[in-house]
Amino acid sequence: MLIFAHRGASAEAPENTLEAFKLAFDQGAHGIEFDTYQHPEGILVFHDRYLERTTNGNGKLLDASLASLRALDAGNNNRIPMLSEVLAITPLSAWCNIEVKYLQNAQAWVKTVKADLSKNDISLDRVIVSSFNHQWLRQIKHYWPEVSLGALTASYALDITSDAKQLSALNIHVALDVVTKTFIEEAKKAGYQVLVYTVDNIDDMTTLARWGADGIFTNKPRVALEALTSLR
Ligand code: G3P
Ligand code: MG
Repeated sequence: MLIFAHRGASAEAPENTLEAFKLAFDQGAHGIEFDTYQHPEGILVFHDRYLERTTNGNGKLLDASLASLRALDAGNNNRIPMLSEVLAITPLSAWCNIEVKYLQNAQAWVKTVKADLSKNDISLDRVIVSSFNHQWLRQIKHYWPEVSLGALTASYALDITSDAKQLSALNIHVALDVVTKTFIEEAKKAGYQVLVYTVDNIDDMTTLARWGADGIFTNKPRVALEALTSLR
């Protein structure tokens, strides 16, 4: 089961910062998950629409200039990172889940992400693009047919593979609150990998491993890696 550090090792370092991602890789996480906004001046790694919870700024991220955003403290004196900075510290063997929280222009987004990946020699085989907004995923896939998609869902839909099928997605990324053994079995039978978010409790980690989940997103990659080692 793959361990993705959710917003980095975010239980131990400020979420979605270079510090949290570096810590995740140091701890041996197989990959990282992070949230992105397509700001008019570049792709930023950030979770919320508003700045208050995780920085010393306030107001909407998209209303602020890149210069003012980059002057903020995102915790422990970290800046809000650009996508290119995160990719620059990502080991070539690590998985990288880019979650899209805001997309303005799919064509421009694809161009920027492709350039950032190639600048850092990151193989597309190690990249998954996900979003709760499946319309955006469809737009991205249109401009980038070879990219692997993860269809995010917080619900146990009547037809769990319908959107993934329409998107030609590789993965279904499902909330811990709704996932069941049957969900995982059905999705896997239909050919999809199932990754579950956000899993910080050891009991849940071991149950999901037993159910055959392909991966989890956790704020505690160190704990997850230890729990899985003790399962073997
Ligand atoms: O990608 C999994 C998970 O991060 C989705 O929810 O709100 O934590 O971005 P959220
Ligand atoms: Mg996320």
